[in-house]
Amino acid sequence: MEATFLVHDEQTVIIRGERFRKYLTAETLKSRTKELGAQISADYKGKKPILIGVLNGAFIFLSDLMRSIDIDCEVDFMKLSSYGANKISSGDVKELKRIDADIKDRHVIVVEDIVDTGLSMDFILSQMSEAGPASLKTATLLHKHEATKVDVPLEYVGFKITNLFVVGYGLDYGQVGRNLADIYILEDQMDQIQ
Ligand code: IMP
Repeated sequence: MEATFLVHDEQTVIIRGERFRKYLTAETLKSRTKELGAQISADYKGKKPILIGVLNGAFIFLSDLMRSIDIDCEVDFMKLSSYGANKISSGDVKELKRIDADIKDRHVIVVEDIVDTGLSMDFILSQMSEAGPASLKTATLLHKHEATKVDVPLEYVGFKITNLFVVGYGLDYGQVGRNLADIYILEDQMDQIQ
């Protein structure tokens, strides 16, 4: 079977024939996630929040974030349709899996890997608010703030990034690259971040 994912060197991977450069290292991701976990622990002391992970992309960030939280908390997952093999958000958001938990009167934190146009988060927040949570907040590892089409409240943000396509640490390019420990960006967009 043809490989779709190739580690080229220390700084570069090739996915589906395109070169990606290392952008955020595993160490950087780990220390920022710890800070967010500490902040959530302080903000939700005595409240037992429920973290709702958005599949597939958020599962790695969520698992690290949850282990950085040192108060009682619960977890559940929902799944939305993804980009497919494209690098541009289709804006067509569909729910593929609902949460199982009853979130009425619960303190809910929606956990995303990345907020791009904001359409997915907007869709999730309107669905969640209908269930009557005691509070509803959001955490995202990455925010492409220049790509925002819908303004959504983002309380816990790991990194604001420019409008670049990224892979790794849960994020995929056509389902490939989620297992990379670091986050990479398309090499031909590197000049945009100098
Ligand atoms: P939005 O609805 O446009 O905000 O897109 C949110 C979803 O698109 C995220 O949960 C990701 O699954 C996906 N996504 C957005 N940008 C990227 C990217 O740069 N790489 C991989 N997936 C992305």
